[in-house]
Amino acid sequence: MLKPLIDKAAFPLLVIDQTGRIQYANRGAEIITGYRRRELEAFALQDLCATYEKDRFIFSNLARIKDLAEIEIDLRKKGGRQFMANISFAPLVHEENRFLLIALRDVTARRVREGQIRELEERYRKLLAERNRLEDQVTRSTKLAAIGELAAGIAHEINNPLGIILGFAQDILEEIPPDHPFFESVKIIEQETARCSEVVKNLLDFARLRPPQMAAVDISRLLNDSVVLLKPKLAKNKIQVKRIIPKRVPLMKVDPQLIQQAVLNVMLNAIQAMPYGGDLSLRIKLTNHESSGTKAPRIKILIADTGPGIPDEIQNRIFDPFFTTKGSKGTGLGLSVCQRIIEDHGGRVEVESREKTGTTLILNLPV
Ligand SMILES: Nc1ncnc2c1ncn2[C@@H]1O[C@H](COP(=O)(O)OP(=O)(O)OP(=O)(O)O)[C@@H](O)[C@H]1O
Ligand SMILES: [Mg+2]
Repeated sequence: MLKPLIDKAAFPLLVIDQTGRIQYANRGAEIITGYRRRELEAFALQDLCATYEKDRFIFSNLARIKDLAEIEIDLRKKGGRQFMANISFAPLVHEENRFLLIALRDVTARRVREGQIRELEERYRKLLAERNRLEDQVTRSTKLAAIGELAAGIAHEINNPLGIILGFAQDILEEIPPDHPFFESVKIIEQETARCSEVVKNLLDFARLRPPQMAAVDISRLLNDSVVLLKPKLAKNKIQVKRIIPKRVPLMKVDPQLIQQAVLNVMLNAIQAMPYGGDLSLRIKLTNHESSGTKAPRIKILIADTGPGIPDEIQNRIFDPFFTTKGSKGTGLGLSVCQRIIEDHGGRVEVESREKTGTTLILNLPV
């Protein structure tokens, strides 16, 4: 009685048998698939699917559907255009034969919207992470600036008297013979004053607010030059240098002196972490970095050692100024200077370290 109504309904309906053969299609099914009813009734449901969907589990199990079932699947219209369909199956029994009534819905638009929402969520998450990172950076920079100013003030005041002490000690050493009873003592005064000068120099470097002076720099050359500068220390600790450097590294606009200082500070730490030998690996990686949805190329300088690694509990402190585990042998400024230089270049320093397997410091710079 209702058949003529259902025949003409715009809502797509099909009836298939247990093998999938289409027994009935209404007007809605014609509209959604683009096939005429006669054509549809010569097909199986599988024939309407995109090629990669034909082996779906449900097609070999149509006979087992006893309740309402629902799947999402890619179908092909006449002419080949694909769409994502939601298919509901309802078992039917007619004159002791089993069939399935099928209702079809085109859910492509919904799918696209869901994808867009997911993408937006992802973008939002990234922006949030970036904002948190920047906030941290600002907090740290403010702290560093205050410490820097203080340090610069003290360092400046101490530098001159240190220079004078050193000068006098050297004068005395020139005047007295090496077997003089005070020679050793004065020698120690000279050495220790020189060490203080070094600390003060580090402090001044750290506090120096000079903006980077950019030049086109070949980073792989800069790394090699740094290795040359450290040769004596590398040899003394029996450290092998390994390099993984791409053939073509683009020239970078950086302040060569500052970047070299940053690299040297990290390499020095690596050398100090391997007093009994090991490998110092230098690697340059060119990558695309995704931030705020735009892709900008980055260069990563990886400096890895095979030392003892950095215990988890101090990993977030190693960039703090004056944090050192080296007692009087370290000032704790190496990494904070390094971080500051890299951040002044718009980059950041990352650390990957596992206890007992070594440490990798990554200087991540925008190209
Ligand atoms: N490659 C590394 N392996 C193990 N620990 C490291 C490494 N690099 C840094 N650290 C840890 O981080 C701390 C801080 O390093 P940083 O370079 O800032 O200071 P420092 O080396 O102690 O002193 P300075 O560099 O001023 O002479 C070190 O004392 C050490 O504990
Ligand atoms: Mg150091």
